[in-house]
Amino acid sequence: MDALDLLKAKYLDGIIAASDEASLEEIRLAALGKKGEISLQMRELGKMTPEERQTTGAALNRLKDEIDGALRAKKEALADAALDARLASEWLDVTLPSRPKRQGTIHPISQVMDEVTAIFADMGFAVAEGPQVESDWYNFDALNIAPEHPARQEHDTFFMARNAADPRPPHVLRTHTSPVQIRALQDRGAPIRVIAPGRVYRMDMDQTHTPMFHQIEGMALGKDISMANLKWVLEEFCRAFFEVDDVELRFRASHFPFTEPSAEVDIRCSWDNGQLKIGEGDGWMEILGSGMMHPKVLAAGGIDPNEYQGFAFGIGIDRLAMLKYGIPDLRAFFESDLRWLRHYGFAALDLPTVFGGLSK
Ligand code: PHE
Repeated sequence: MDALDLLKAKYLDGIIAASDEASLEEIRLAALGKKGEISLQMRELGKMTPEERQTTGAALNRLKDEIDGALRAKKEALADAALDARLASEWLDVTLPSRPKRQGTIHPISQVMDEVTAIFADMGFAVAEGPQVESDWYNFDALNIAPEHPARQEHDTFFMARNAADPRPPHVLRTHTSPVQIRALQDRGAPIRVIAPGRVYRMDMDQTHTPMFHQIEGMALGKDISMANLKWVLEEFCRAFFEVDDVELRFRASHFPFTEPSAEVDIRCSWDNGQLKIGEGDGWMEILGSGMMHPKVLAAGGIDPNEYQGFAFGIGIDRLAMLKYGIPDLRAFFESDLRWLRHYGFAALDLPTVFGGLSK
């Protein structure tokens, strides 16, 4: 065996025995590194006769290639083994049954928002949004609510703290979703058909009022939209939402500064020993305010009231949820009682659609 065969045997044995990448790297440096044994021998070639150089040079190159190849192969084998080990340790049985008791549920408010959005989307309404901390202008002035209007009084509205030196009126927690009418008009112009679901705030607390509650604003603006369109849309909506044909609505003349004429809408229902039923009985529950948009509101949104007209409405989401799902006390919605949430909550993966069914 000549010297090169010995070298070869030494390094190949070392490679076979190596158990990790670090020892492979050590072997590589010892053999092929700048100061490695084979590299040093290469450097000796210069001192040889041309014939010696040819045979020894070729043999050294072959040896170098062989060691290099063996190193790579071993490195790959080590990596494969590491991956196999990791896969084995991270193995999961995805066929294990889930634990239904730990599953969360969709809150009835979220469920009703999704249902209402699905119904109006089906009628061609897009979804718009606005901030919950709103400027005095958007919440009141732009909606034709004069400074002396009772809605502005401290006992209804939550005002944000402000610097006493600041002459501007303080921002408010929006008292309704109507400011989104103005924002949507400014952003999108006319003609337009939007709804705006969201949280609103008023200082009030009893069985049917909480200081934070939810509304869905609706607005449709065009060249010839009338009160008749409003009535049809609301009736269609109630039929679809309550999933019954015999819903009875009562349009009551009313007043809002931002609509003219205005109507409040009640739905026929009964309260029999704490059970709420819709479509029957002698009771009426107010569920929304509505009307034809006031010309001043259109102007505030940058729309010419001589060219466009339309209707707007604001529906109380929480009331709808109480009615549809027979929930007698509004305050329970926000108490986060797990037993209540499990009882009234909805399965997380059942998305309401008009074609697939809203609540089942
Ligand atoms: N913003 C009114 C309220 O909160 C509801 C409403 C909206 C009335 C749109 C008319 C038109 O009571």
